Amino acid sequence: METKVLYTGVRLSNMPESYIRPESERPKLSEVEDCEDVPVIDLGRDEREHIVQQIGYACKNYGFFQVTNHGVNTKAVEEMLGIANEFFSLPVEEKLKLYSDDPSRTMRLSTSFNVNKETVHNWRDYLRLHCHPLEKYVPEWPSNPTSFKDIVSNYCKEVRKLGFRLQELIAESLGLQKDHITTALGDQGQHMAVNFYPPCPEPELTYGLPGHTDPNALTILLQDLQVAGLQVLKNGKWLAVKPRPNAFVINIGDQLQALSNGLYKSVWHRAVVNTDKARISVASFLCPSDDAMISAPKELCANGAPAVYRDYTYAEYYKKFWSRNLDQEHCLELFKN
Ligand code: OGA
Ligand code: NI
Repeated sequence: METKVLYTGVRLSNMPESYIRPESERPKLSEVEDCEDVPVIDLGRDEREHIVQQIGYACKNYGFFQVTNHGVNTKAVEEMLGIANEFFSLPVEEKLKLYSDDPSRTMRLSTSFNVNKETVHNWRDYLRLHCHPLEKYVPEWPSNPTSFKDIVSNYCKEVRKLGFRLQELIAESLGLQKDHITTALGDQGQHMAVNFYPPCPEPELTYGLPGHTDPNALTILLQDLQVAGLQVLKNGKWLAVKPRPNAFVINIGDQLQALSNGLYKSVWHRAVVNTDKARISVASFLCPSDDAMISAPKELCANGAPAVYRDYTYAEYYKKFWSRNLDQEHCLELFKN
């Protein structure tokens, strides 16, 4: 077997065997159309009722949306993308010092998705960080580049505020008290995946990330403006989500699907790669605290709508999730009543 552990900056001219998907699982890029009607929600508007209604519509019908005027400082966003670029441009010897394929590590640079569980690898390197509480985790973050810790912790703080604001709007859109979600999820964890998708000799044969849903509550994705790659599943078809200036892509994760009693869908999405350009994305995940009990509120189980999922703690879910690989049956299915 070849040894592509991390991208070295040397472009491969041939696809290594272990990245090639069987024919039936390939991305079929020529069939993918642009998603022309991605809901774009302007959080800067005054009319809260209107925003709540738009969010409810997007969560129910798409499971994802974009937000603009979201309050996250433009400079914080630009610096985050800049430092992500710098980090992945470090010499591979430097990056290898941080390499680990153990998902239980709270800081690690890794590749693909779960290299020890999967049969086919993915064309991605990623830095995974725990980000809450910052005081606990920042000391173990990379100190090269030197401004990494400052820039990333600043970005994390801003994104966290946005996440809570969105959870309040989402709770209201479900007809719940505005603090229902933020209370139910306890002292939420925050994780970050800084994704780097190297140029790939044969994008038709592989994925950056294959179709998956996110196992957490809410994801705030910052996409490289220059290079597209995110696709979402809508009505059985994969659609490309073009990067939009000054916007984040927000997606509902498995925990909000469960908490909304299945009303809101944790959207299936994937990342595809391209031949010419490396792509960067930064995913921030808000995660319930380990002991948060995930349970559909009684308001959503009234009128003959039984609870779709059994109650479980997030710790139980997370353990199950990482014990599997992305190609298996959806993890949430295992928690159905
Ligand atoms: C993820 C993810 C998509 C992207 O990190 O979970 O879905 O475009 N990323 O990188
Ligand atoms: Ni994802």
